[in-house]
Amino acid sequence: MDMTNKTATLSFEGKTLDLPILKPTHGPDVIDIRKLYETGDVFTYDPGFTSTAACESTITFIDGDKGELLYRGYPIEQLADKSHYLEVCYLLLYGELPNAAQIEDFEGRVTKHTMVHEQMHNFFRGFRRDSHPMATMVGVVGAMSAFYHDSLDINDAWQREVAAIRMIAKLPTIAAMAYKYSIGQPFVYPKNTLDYAGNFLHMCFAVPCEDYVVEPALAKAMDRIMTLHADHEQNASTSTVRLAGSSGANPFACIAAGIACLWGPAHGGANQACLEMLREIGTVDKIPEAIRRAKDKNDPFRLMGFGHRVYKNFDPRAKVMKESADEVLDLLGFHNNPTLQVAKELERIALDDDYFVSKKLYPNVDFYSGIILEAMGFPTSMFTPIFAVSRTVGWISQWKEMIADPTQKIGRPRQLYIGAARRDYVDVAAR
Ligand code: CMC
Repeated sequence: MDMTNKTATLSFEGKTLDLPILKPTHGPDVIDIRKLYETGDVFTYDPGFTSTAACESTITFIDGDKGELLYRGYPIEQLADKSHYLEVCYLLLYGELPNAAQIEDFEGRVTKHTMVHEQMHNFFRGFRRDSHPMATMVGVVGAMSAFYHDSLDINDAWQREVAAIRMIAKLPTIAAMAYKYSIGQPFVYPKNTLDYAGNFLHMCFAVPCEDYVVEPALAKAMDRIMTLHADHEQNASTSTVRLAGSSGANPFACIAAGIACLWGPAHGGANQACLEMLREIGTVDKIPEAIRRAKDKNDPFRLMGFGHRVYKNFDPRAKVMKESADEVLDLLGFHNNPTLQVAKELERIALDDDYFVSKKLYPNVDFYSGIILEAMGFPTSMFTPIFAVSRTVGWISQWKEMIADPTQKIGRPRQLYIGAARRDYVDVAAR
């Protein structure tokens, strides 16, 4: 951590505190308030952590004003164009791009772990037939801690490594199994001759009674979706994983907590909600009504896939996603896809509307991803599980970083208590 020689001075109730200012590689300076309570006997108040850095990190950087996203310093546009998902996983986990031997070894290790323990099949069968795949994933990923006892010691760097590889390797298998179970089809085992994204498509769409050949262009599009979602700094689900992990909880349980958090419609659930919204709008002539509702303070309706806590400019992932949507729909022959037409027109109108312009609300990653996934044949219920599969590497990289950080402490926020003042118990007869 780099200190500047600057300090911030805080004065209140006759006290003056000098708070050190820390210098990041990029982004605003950070006032170090760790000693504030000890020396000043006050807390800070920041619901939603809008102004609070909860940790140091070397993994991902976002410049919300510029609309920039860097993984280990590399711009997301370059990675989406030139790299591929497993290389990005290596980069996020280990900090540098791999050389040829390193990526071969890494891909080999991930590929060897793609199958899940056979007894886990029984676990799936305990879920209701129409369970949402996210519900199944929360349960099954949590249950991995009951199956892989040899990678639960978080104080052993090798066991952490094995847990990380297992998670990256098995999450696609689990997501595909959750999907197959939800539609009443048999599970499809992983096929290690396929690449990571192609194998996932195969496990989702193959059936035992006929051949399913993975279309390379679709595998590439899926790989790109995964790359774009791989990490995103200290977002809600990543912070959940870190907080769960800060108590020393086992890694599989921590990732299950991250999946649970991701499911919400303000976070990863937005891709499902966005496509449902676009379908509901249905035709271009209904867009003004949707815009009117989104602006109405008394109406809970929001434009899903719009707005972001950090990006106050275009989400760079949305730009890449929009290009991919055009490519995939062209490839699949959906030239005049009505949902894409509605999305493009909605984006055009919103970006020209004072409400959205003044609040700096731009399309986010979820605005176009659902259109691509739907064209590939995924039902909306699989959109968030695919986000979870892709984000697993981010969660596990951040978890590993936290565990290895000597300054790490259990996460324990404080509060501004506004409940009843101390009072004495009253016997029931006297109430
Ligand atoms: N439609 C209409 N108004 C909006 C929207 C929207 N999508 N997003 C924000 N606003 C308004 C909001 O009403 C508020 O207005 P005011 O200041 O007058 O009260 C202002 O913009 C700021 O919104 P906020 O809710 O205080 O901002 P936030 O940083 O807490 O929320 C957000 C960020 C992403 C939760 C929010 O923009 C949202 O709900 N968007 C729709 C859901 C969505 O697309 N989520 C995916 C995010 S990207 C992927 C991911 O993180 O998983």
